[in-house]
Amino acid sequence: MPVFAIAQLDFGYPWWLSYGHLPLVLGAAALLLAGYRRKWSKWPMLALGVLALWSSAALLVTRFVLDINGRPSLPTQSFLRSGAGRVLDMGAGTGRSSIMVLDSRPQATLVALDLFAHSFEQHFGRSESPQQRLLANLKAAGVDRRATIETGDMRKLPFESGAFDAIVSAYAIDHLNRQGIDQSLAEAARVVKPGGDFLLMLIAKEPWAQFAFGPLLMHGGPRGPAWWTARLQAAGFQVLEEGTHPLTLYLLGRRL
Ligand SMILES: C[S@@+](CC[C@H](N)C(=O)[O-])C[C@H]1O[C@@H](n2cnc3c(N)ncnc32)[C@H](O)[C@@H]1O
Repeated sequence: MPVFAIAQLDFGYPWWLSYGHLPLVLGAAALLLAGYRRKWSKWPMLALGVLALWSSAALLVTRFVLDINGRPSLPTQSFLRSGAGRVLDMGAGTGRSSIMVLDSRPQATLVALDLFAHSFEQHFGRSESPQQRLLANLKAAGVDRRATIETGDMRKLPFESGAFDAIVSAYAIDHLNRQGIDQSLAEAARVVKPGGDFLLMLIAKEPWAQFAFGPLLMHGGPRGPAWWTARLQAAGFQVLEEGTHPLTLYLLGRRL
């Protein structure tokens, strides 16, 4: 009988983003047990109980709500409503945002662009061929025939003007400095067709993320929707929608 290897998605975000609260859960539980046996006083036991409850809840939130290594859904159904067209993913990484778009827009094709350099290694670790890691995930998701991989800098995109019907960029532009942000948004405005959508997703201080991580995980400082709206408008986009999704602030822009 033939044996089929079932390819697994592996986005490669660090383990602690999904399971970082587990040591706290185990530590608090062990101390509670020790305290119960040795009859510790009420206040340390209460503090340990609160720690155990919060860390257990935060573990469930990171694993099942934020789910950074899981297959994500689009934060808004208004993105690429036509369902078809050529999409660019700026800062595709190991493919999570590309797969999000290709999963929910089965008539679309996509170019997954990344610099595959220092920032890639920072997030996903060193690997022989980052492009192969991305390709393996596109294949595991069954979307590789609608995707191509491009190595390039989102601050100077290697594409003709108006080459795309829509653009997505998730948790990537917020890693750049102010100049890099403006350059990338101007490049996005150049390569998308007039009337095309731009879905910008950023790591945000939304309630689920704050509950689990407090002030950690903030890229680009405490920049809120008004700051990003102004940057998008300056680049030539009208902002149609903004909102939050677990771990995410998103803005949907349309090229004027
Ligand atoms: C946190 S990852 C996000 C990956 C993916 N979009 C996702 O949703 O999982 C950020 C990615 O942006 C890429 N990146 C950073 N600066 C870049 C640049 N100037 N041009 C292209 N990609 C860049 C990094 O290599 C990294 O893969």
